[in-house]
Amino acid sequence: MPQLFPRNANALPAVSLLVVLLGGLVVVVGGWYYLSPRFYEVGYMPEQPVPYSHAFHAGQLGMDCRYCHNHVEQSPHANVPSTQTCMNCHGVVATESAQLLPVRESWATGVPVEWVKIHHIPDYAQFSHAAHVNVGVGCESCHGRVDQMVVVSQVEPLSMGWCLECHRNPEEHLRDPSLVTQMGYLDEMTEADIAANRERIEQEGIKPPQNCSACHY
Ligand code: HEC
Ligand code: HEC
Ligand code: HEC
Ligand code: HEC
Ligand code: HEC
Repeated sequence: MPQLFPRNANALPAVSLLVVLLGGLVVVVGGWYYLSPRFYEVGYMPEQPVPYSHAFHAGQLGMDCRYCHNHVEQSPHANVPSTQTCMNCHGVVATESAQLLPVRESWATGVPVEWVKIHHIPDYAQFSHAAHVNVGVGCESCHGRVDQMVVVSQVEPLSMGWCLECHRNPEEHLRDPSLVTQMGYLDEMTEADIAANRERIEQEGIKPPQNCSACHY
């Protein structure tokens, strides 16, 4: 009878065991890397209790970000709007909408809608919206084209390296502070705008900090 398997086929079980073990290791390490929060953050898009669309309200209806996030210029934290803000319109618009049921329930009970927070920096680092927005860093620089997002997701890593990259070259991100909520501005920025920013940085002494204690205290 001809030999079906070559002699070294005896090694096959050992080899496959090794392959399985190594494969398992790759899955574990890979999973740990990809699923750990740091990697998970870009693209993070949790499901929200109401399918509220920025693309519709901020994009199509053209509402200014500050109509809802009205603390960004005064406070470290941008606020998510209260139910009252939604009811300004939805008390009269789309009053029967099933999608808006949680908003009407919140209005009736006084219990806020439980929006899921998307962007986070750890407690040991300090960040202030007001400090950035008032000097003319647009929402777009850190949150992307929110006016085109049906569901908001995180587009920047919010890592220390990312903060510092802009702190070293702020001229590419500054604009007239009255235009911070304008979307698409970065795409239309010219060399002349950047040159004007360099001048402004010089004149106004704009100096984003790079020392540890500015962000960690
Ligand atoms: C009509 C009210 C409204 C307007 C206008 C609005 N937003 Fe929002 N925004 C919300 C609500 C409600 C949430 C929470 C639910 C969600 O994430 O979609 C939110 C969430 C966000 C988040 C995510 C917050 C987090 O949890 O990390 C960002 C960033 C944001 N908005 C930026 C913007 C920007 C930039 C604009 C202007 C282009 C804007 N928003 C306009 C209501 C609004
Ligand atoms: C300036 C007015 C205005 C404000 C403020 C506003 N909306 Fe709207 N919203 C609209 C309009 C107009 C529509 C479209 C209604 C329609 O299609 O009949 C709409 C549609 C919606 C829809 C889709 C409804 C459906 O059944 O298709 C949802 C969900 C929604 N809004 C959520 C919200 C939430 C949550 C807030 C508060 C954070 C909010 N809106 C604030 C004007 C507003
Ligand atoms: C320089 C970068 C930067 C700019 C500019 C910026 N944001 Fe943020 N935003 C962040 C970071 C970082 C967080 C997470 C903050 C935290 O966890 O404390 C955040 C969080 C948020 C949140 C969630 C609530 C909160 O404060 O944690 C909202 C809403 C928001 N931003 C809206 C806006 C809007 C609207 C603008 C423009 C008017 C804007 N942001 C401009 C970086 C920025
Ligand atoms: C797109 C550009 C940009 C990004 C991204 C950015 N910054 Fe800034 N940051 C600035 C500018 C511009 C200033 C203003 C400097 C001034 O007024 O002299 C500033 C100022 C600051 C200040 C000093 C003002 C204050 O709040 O006391 C701190 C702290 C700070 N940034 C922290 C951060 C952290 C933390 C991150 C990342 C999560 C970050 N920044 C990301 C541009 C940026
Ligand atoms: C512009 C603001 C800023 C400055 C300046 C800064 N950091 Fe950070 N740092 C951050 C932020 C934001 C994080 C959180 C990053 C994250 O969540 O991944 C961080 C994280 C860290 C961590 C945690 C480990 C890590 O990499 O996530 C250490 C350690 C640290 N910083 C040390 C320093 C030291 C030392 C300096 C001075 C040489 C410094 N930082 C300057 C913003 C800053």
